[in-house]
Order: sequence, then C-alpha cells, then structure tokens
Amino acid sequence: MNKNLYFYLTAEAGMVGLVTGGASGLGRATVERLVQNGASAVIVDLPSSDGQALAASLGDRCAFAPADVTSEADVRSAVSLAREKFGRLDIAVNCAGIAVAVKTYNFKKDVPHSLEDFQRVINVNIAGSFNVIRLAAGEMGKNEADADGHRGCIINTASVAAYDGQVGQAAYSASKGGIVGMTLPIARDLAPMGIRVMTIYVVQNVEKTSSFMSSKMWKKRHSLICRPKCGKKVIVWHVVQNVEKNVIV
Ligand SMILES: NC(=O)c1ccc[n+]([C@@H]2O[C@H](COP(=O)([O-])OP(=O)(O)OC[C@H]3O[C@@H](n4cnc5c(N)ncnc54)[C@H](O)[C@@H]3O)[C@@H](O)[C@H]2O)c1
Repeated sequence: MNKNLYFYLTAEAGMVGLVTGGASGLGRATVERLVQNGASAVIVDLPSSDGQALAASLGDRCAFAPADVTSEADVRSAVSLAREKFGRLDIAVNCAGIAVAVKTYNFKKDVPHSLEDFQRVINVNIAGSFNVIRLAAGEMGKNEADADGHRGCIINTASVAAYDGQVGQAAYSASKGGIVGMTLPIARDLAPMGIRVMTIYVVQNVEKTSSFMSSKMWKKRHSLICRPKCGKKVIVWHVVQNVEKNVIV
C-alpha cells in the first residue's frame, strides 16, 4: 500500500473518540472503525442497548457508557469515562437519534400529531446532540493544541430530511433542521479553542439498520430518495474520517 495512504488510513491511532448511538447502525460502524484503526472509543448509548456486549467484543480500547444523551449527569459520566480510561477526548460523533412517522393531522381518525412525540424527537435529536457537544467541548478544551492549534473535532448527524422531509416527518425534519442550524454558530463559538464542528447530512443507509424505521418504511423511503449505494455504513465512516482528518473543513 502507498505509504501516505497507509498513514492516512491509520492516523486515528492513539486518538480517543466518543460516539453516541454507538451500539447500532452508523454509530456502531464508527466505533468499530475507530478501534480497528488504533483509536479508543467510548460507546454512549441507552442502558438497554447492545453497547456493553459490543464494547466487550472490541477489547480494551473500547468502553461502554450507558447514557441517555438528554441527561446532563449521564453525558458528564461518559465524558469522564473517556478521560479516566483513555486519558483524553479528541473526537465526538453524535449518532444517537430517534424518529416518529406521523402526519400532522390524521383526518381519518380525527387525531392530531401527538405533541409529546414531537417534543421527544426534538429533545433527543437537538437537545441531546447539543448536550454532548457542550460537554465534549469542555473536555477537548483541556487538550494541548497541536502545531496547527487544533484540540478536537465534533461531528453531528443530520439527514436528507432536514432539507427534503417526506410525509409524516414533521418532527424528524424539524429536529435535523435544528442540528443543521446550530452547527455554524457552535463552530464559531468553539473555533477560537481549535475545536472543529461539522454536521454530516446522511441520505439513507443502503443497509436497513435503523432501529426506529420499519423495513416497509425504509424500502419506501429508499426508493424515493436514494441512488444505489448512497449512505452505505462504510461510506458514512469514510465521511467521518475525512472530516476529522481534513483540518480545513
Ligand atoms: N440510517 C439512515 O439511513 C439514516 C439516514 C439519515 C440520518 N440518519 C441519522 O443517523 C443517525 C444514526 O442512524 P442509525 O440508522 O444508525 O440509527 P439506529 O437506530 O441504528 O441507532 C441509533 C442509536 O441511538 C441510540 N439512542 C436513541 N435514543 C438515545 C438516547 N436518548 N440516548 C442515547 N442513545 C440513544 C439507540 O439506542 C441506537 O443505538 C441518527 O441520528 C439518524 O437520524 C440515519
């Protein structure tokens, strides 16, 4: 293999990542690649998730922090685990997310979209991502800056639904649009500390992995919005890797 390419692919060695939603789907693929490339990873996911088993299967450079991303105490514990077990935090990847598929008003049943469901999606996807960003940033700020002044990198997951929401996606689209909207001001807030913040706009995974989407819904959406192979898990990982490495992004 070309020496430079080899360096590029293995440059995560020694870094420490924290991945929310790391027990499933895109988050899990990110955790696996971090560990495979020589980094350490903290899986931040719900206590009911497969996080514990996944961490055990990936070995000493992986740990599980059972956490709800909307909880300040849980996320503080996860960030502390990264520092206590692996010494630092370099990368945070926000993949935890939920969705509901409900029309704004069901005229057949004469029932409006549940306000509670709408608020839950907004809370997990926007407030949960922000909770992780703000607490991870505090930890990254303790890192010594590298020669270019960089201390860390935060990557969020939005969706095609932020720009092209389908029927029944009011809550999900609003939540992903919120993530897109907060990215630039947060990036500007944290830039003076050398912490880069980006949001990936995922189209749709070519593999059905999401726990929140039924197979029927996935197939329908896939046929509506996807080109072949877009969103394949490994491609999503490569985007994360490129964003992390490309310091001009
Ligand atoms: N898979 C796709 O096609 C696709 C497309 C567009 C956007 N996205 C976005 O990418 C992200 C990952 O998607 P995925 O397909 O891997 O989803 P997934 O359902 O496979 O994984 C999501 C993970 O988040 C965890 N989670 C949910 N609520 C949580 C909470 N409150 N605290 C902590 N963890 C929580 C779940 O336990 C799960 O492990 C999501 O934000 C999703 O909206 C995915």
